[in-house]
Amino acid sequence: MIAHDSLLFLTFAFYGQATRLLVKKPFCFEEATISDIQEAFNNGSLNSSLLVKHYLDQIRALNPHLNAVLEVNPDAIADAAKADLQRNAGGNLSPLHGIPILVKDNINTYDKLNTTSGSFALLGSIVPRDAGVIQRLRKVGAIILGKASMSEWDNFRSLDPKQGWSPRGGQGRNPYPTTDGPCGTSSGSAIAVAANLVTVSLGTDLDGAITCPAVMNSVVGIKPTVGLTSRSGMVPISPRLQTIGPMARTMADAVILLDVIVGFDPLDANATKEASRFIPIDGFQKSLKEDGLKGKRLGIVRHSFSNDYSKGSIEANKFEMHFQTMRLKGAILVDNIELKNVEIMQNVFASGEATALLAEFKLSLNAYLKDLVSSPVRSLADIIAFNNQHPIEERMKEYGQIIFLASQQTNGIGDAENIAMKRMAQLSKEGMEDLIREKSLDAVVFPGSSLSHSMAIGGFPIISVPAGYNKSGAPFGISFAGLWGSDATLIEIAYAFEKATKVRKPPPLI
Ligand SMILES: *[C@@H]1O[C@H](CO)[C@@H](O)[C@H](O)[C@H]1NC(C)=O
Ligand SMILES: *[C@@H]1O[C@H](CO)[C@@H](O)[C@H](O)[C@H]1NC(C)=O
Ligand SMILES: *[C@@H]1O[C@H](CO)[C@@H](O)[C@H](O)[C@H]1NC(C)=O
Ligand SMILES: *[C@@H]1O[C@H](CO)[C@@H](O)[C@H](O)[C@H]1NC(C)=O
Ligand SMILES: *[C@@H]1O[C@H](CO)[C@@H](O)[C@H](O)[C@H]1NC(C)=O
Repeated sequence: MIAHDSLLFLTFAFYGQATRLLVKKPFCFEEATISDIQEAFNNGSLNSSLLVKHYLDQIRALNPHLNAVLEVNPDAIADAAKADLQRNAGGNLSPLHGIPILVKDNINTYDKLNTTSGSFALLGSIVPRDAGVIQRLRKVGAIILGKASMSEWDNFRSLDPKQGWSPRGGQGRNPYPTTDGPCGTSSGSAIAVAANLVTVSLGTDLDGAITCPAVMNSVVGIKPTVGLTSRSGMVPISPRLQTIGPMARTMADAVILLDVIVGFDPLDANATKEASRFIPIDGFQKSLKEDGLKGKRLGIVRHSFSNDYSKGSIEANKFEMHFQTMRLKGAILVDNIELKNVEIMQNVFASGEATALLAEFKLSLNAYLKDLVSSPVRSLADIIAFNNQHPIEERMKEYGQIIFLASQQTNGIGDAENIAMKRMAQLSKEGMEDLIREKSLDAVVFPGSSLSHSMAIGGFPIISVPAGYNKSGAPFGISFAGLWGSDATLIEIAYAFEKATKVRKPPPLI
């Protein structure tokens, strides 16, 4: 009996059953999952209003240090009260109903919040409508808590800006002890979830922009197959390769969010129609199976592990333990696999990625700016001029804007860009596609977000989950990637891995 009961109960047991019922444990917000929150909603110990107020208090207390949040939604409390009324009225509600979500600052919200990609150039612009994914979130009663900070312009302004820095947000900080920062570009989305400033968040990814901050801040990041989630209403780099995805403390929370945001959007019709065949009829939550590793063939990209971590290091030892755990859970490990041309794929200039992105950025950003109801800037040229006029805020001396300038020089999709895209397709075919088919793999496994470029050029999905903490207490992670539409399989693998290893610990108190 003693083994099963809380200390609280032991203290009061003496007074018998009646007293025991009076002892109500307060809801524990730290590390609360969506299912914890829904249970507390149902048993009456919590409502959305209290939950939103709690997170707003946390943001007020911790954000001055973390710089994870650019703006909070002035209507969040009213939206929460509305959700509470709807819940009290009963009915069948989404698991995201009444759950607060933080949204990366490059995703349009048609409300009082600004959408600026971290830049003052877009401050005051008015978006025409909610982004496709935001429409889906509002429809199920999720609460937009605010905008998350990010690396300005998704790091597409200059070659070596500080990850997680933007003029509007300052420097985002990793809540764990590390000198390496939060990584980017979805830095605020990762920090906020890691530090319990919100339940879940949205990031966007092209080249590791979800997965890198996920592993650095010890959270889960899902980069879905390109097209699985709509990119309408996103400040773009390349709709051909970019995707919007969930960030969360657990796989289950991330997948609950994923299930809501996937699907066809007439404003991103081609890609979302094409990818909608990858959405399971019963949703992705069906893939949250504890035995999800059983029978899975996992290709270990060994050189990637040994490049990043020396033999005998805490990280290397931990990864060996994880491989052992995967085997124990029934996975078949195919070791020492090699991605053909990996050095070329990891080099944006050699792969053709840079050539294509420079042209696509100008086209898609100008189209985005044109679609705004009103805006201080209407073209990439305007933004370049804005930066020149605001050299202090934009740290022009330090970072410059060489990528913007190179992009401005481009002239649409011509021969060079078509050749670059063909090259990327060829590299992906001879790399990931042939490898996965030849070895009959369900996924490839690599440390952190180390192979994100190789996956980016194919638009392949990746899931990153926490894998451990090093001697200094800095988090590291592990990633599972597969071919287009392998999202459900990757979820099975990553969820089973998470359940078997239970790595994540909240950051030390700041
Ligand atoms: C209600 O559920 C939450 C979440 O599981 C739990 O922490 C809390 O103790 C429960 N409260 C009551 C009164 O049952
Ligand atoms: C939420 O719960 C608190 C505390 O029980 C209560 O005071 C408040 O009225 C509730 N809000 C709504 C909108 O139901
Ligand atoms: C959006 O930006 C404007 C201009 O700086 C500011 O007045 C407003 O408060 C911002 N909105 C929110 C919700 O912070
Ligand atoms: C969508 O596909 C159609 C038919 O292939 C094509 O004509 C159109 O240009 C595509 N639209 C976009 C935005 O790529
Ligand atoms: C732990 O990892 C961080 C990077 O996240 C690095 O800065 C630090 O030096 C590492 N500490 C040790 C002891 O390896």
